Amino acid sequence: MSTGDHGPITTISAGERGEVSVFADSEALARAAAAAFAEIVSQAVDARGLALVALSGGTTPRRMGELLAAEPYRSKVPWASIEFFWGDERWVPLESDESNAGVAMRTFLDEVPVEPSRINPFPVELSDAALAADVYATRLRTVTGETDTVPVFDLVLLGMGDDGHTASLFPGTKAVHETEALVVAHHVAKLDATRLTFSPPLLNAGREIVFLVGGAAKAGVLRDVLFGPDRVDDLPSQLIRPTGGRLRWLVDAAAAAQLGDATGG
Ligand code: 6PG
Repeated sequence: MSTGDHGPITTISAGERGEVSVFADSEALARAAAAAFAEIVSQAVDARGLALVALSGGTTPRRMGELLAAEPYRSKVPWASIEFFWGDERWVPLESDESNAGVAMRTFLDEVPVEPSRINPFPVELSDAALAADVYATRLRTVTGETDTVPVFDLVLLGMGDDGHTASLFPGTKAVHETEALVVAHHVAKLDATRLTFSPPLLNAGREIVFLVGGAAKAGVLRDVLFGPDRVDDLPSQLIRPTGGRLRWLVDAAAAAQLGDATGG
């Protein structure tokens, strides 16, 4: 049990489904996420001269972005050596408030000294989502030089919806079973919207895969994802099993409220 200012209040092992660090509240979760981001990208740049990062969408990472855009991270993180991609995107213009990349750029990346050519939003200006997915995968292969193997991200940030989806891998969609393509465009009936998403193989190739999950609304599904039976069609977050990297869950106490039941704790 750690009682440090920004450390977890407890940690829970979920076996091959990862290690869970529980933080007191959303602010402590955001601080832990910012610290993990800085540590992972700095280690990657030290080791390989570059950090390949896949950001997630949704609202949970926003406070992390605000913290990273402020000191000490603004001057501590090797921003110009990070290649930014997004693990998923909505089929909307960058200017939209629904755009994962657009929101991240306006609330976070525009405030730090990144290398603009290393910001890689999905090409949502193209006429067709399937084409955009292919172009994005090609861009990824070009940047990494990995032409026939699955590109390895140094950091894959993920969120989880209260339906158990992650990235834009939604329950009941064929994308859940994609094993060949790196990036998929698909219509999500539940949302009546087109989404673009990294496939499970690309997500799982990550060296450091970090979920950020907060709020009481996710407590039940988090318990089921981490400690329930395998039901990947219903709970696509269960698809995330690193092929060689590490999987961590940074969660707040509200989201972790039902984990004790599951672990008998
Ligand atoms: C998206 C995300 C999605 C998100 C979860 C959690 O495009 O919406 O990539 O997978 O991470 O839905 O979203 P919140 O952080 O808003 O709960």
